[in-house]
Amino acid sequence: MLESALASLCEFLRFPSVSTDPSRTASVAECADWLAAQMRLAGLSAEVRPTPRHPVVLGKNEHRPGRPTVLIYGHYDVQPEDPLAEWQTAPFEPAIRDGVIFARGATDNKGQIFAHLQGVAATIREHGELPVNLLMLVEGEEEIGSPNLELFLRNHREELRCDVIAVSDTGMVAAGVPTFTYGLRGIAALEVRVKGPTVDLHSGIYGGTVRNPATVIAQLVASLHAADGRVAVDGFYDGVLPLETWEREAWAQLPFGEGEIMAVTGVSALAGEAGFTPVERIWGRPTAEVNGLGGGFQGVGTKTVIPKEAFAKLTFRLVPGQDPARVLGAVQAHLRARCPEGVQLELFPGHSGEPYLADPHSSHGKAAQRALQRAFPGGQVALIREGGSIPIINTFKQVLGVDTILLGLALPDCRAHAPNENFPVANFYAGIALNQALLDELSRL
Ligand code: BES
Ligand code: ZN
Repeated sequence: MLESALASLCEFLRFPSVSTDPSRTASVAECADWLAAQMRLAGLSAEVRPTPRHPVVLGKNEHRPGRPTVLIYGHYDVQPEDPLAEWQTAPFEPAIRDGVIFARGATDNKGQIFAHLQGVAATIREHGELPVNLLMLVEGEEEIGSPNLELFLRNHREELRCDVIAVSDTGMVAAGVPTFTYGLRGIAALEVRVKGPTVDLHSGIYGGTVRNPATVIAQLVASLHAADGRVAVDGFYDGVLPLETWEREAWAQLPFGEGEIMAVTGVSALAGEAGFTPVERIWGRPTAEVNGLGGGFQGVGTKTVIPKEAFAKLTFRLVPGQDPARVLGAVQAHLRARCPEGVQLELFPGHSGEPYLADPHSSHGKAAQRALQRAFPGGQVALIREGGSIPIINTFKQVLGVDTILLGLALPDCRAHAPNENFPVANFYAGIALNQALLDELSRL
């Protein structure tokens, strides 16, 4: 059975379900149909529900009174595969090398959500039914900020009523170390454009008189950080919840820190906010990141030009206590105050999502940790927060009033969002066992 589950996962990975790419809309829809069919094969009823853009796949078993209702959430959309040339094998032709599956979405999130589904299928095969009422909600827009899911939740609040939400879209601190995540960072995106002369100019004829938009964008970007690594925007840290002592102590003991981060990323030194360890900075502190920077000549060789415009794409990772709208307001004021005359500044706020923090010692949290212990025996469960964002998790809390347990299977070197994304077959199989154990543990609450 495990081998056929693996073969099906490879089918899943063949759909180029890139949600941001309008040319892939049909592939995203085909992927949704395929997933619904897989849910039916597992023994659930399943429907593909349209949204204004990419559909939601909703699976269910027969609900009975007296049992807890568990909602499993994940996403079947993936990030773009570029840069394509850096893939060892094609991103949408899954290849297994040395027990590791390579494909876009292998970890984030197809491998993990499919482990959930196969855990459900295995439980139904073994026991004839599930021990809980199940809802399985798999969306196609997570990687573009879930723009239509909140309304879907609000419109189907009754249908989606549940006691707990389970998500595997986070990481493990190291291979084989069961990891429970109780917090996620939020996010706020901002695109900055600087416009100067009406046309590109000869940099010899005009250099020295006209302000260069590329220089201005570089100065604005540089102004976001102080020398000590802190974000230099007034009000940015307002309300930030300090880390708790127990977290700092527990995180310091984990087999994930400076050395592992340097090894996985290939950098020769780490950087960031003074006064915090690398994992504290990732999991518990807010940051400002430049995701894209452009303007002027990008081709081979040189071209002596003053570009007429330049841009930066920024995102800010937020922690509990920060509000995306307030942060974006502070950043915009910061940039406006620093933009010199002679150029125009245009600001385009993008998607945003709230941070999430839950009590790791809740009854659901403890049940999840017992399930993790059963699936990964030997090691102690690591309690962590994550630096990544899943904005809908906080929306679940607001709209459905329910907490989420996060039991991720991604390894630090999974290369999510990057070339050669990968997921060990062993993690997929452990994930299936984990989900069987999870349904069992949750049914006992
Ligand atoms: N699975 C990730 C989120 C994640 C990554 C959680 C690493 C924990 C550790 C998710 O698919 C993702 O990439 N989310 C985006 C959200 C954004 C596009 C709104 C992110 O974090 O960049
Ligand atoms: Zn992702």
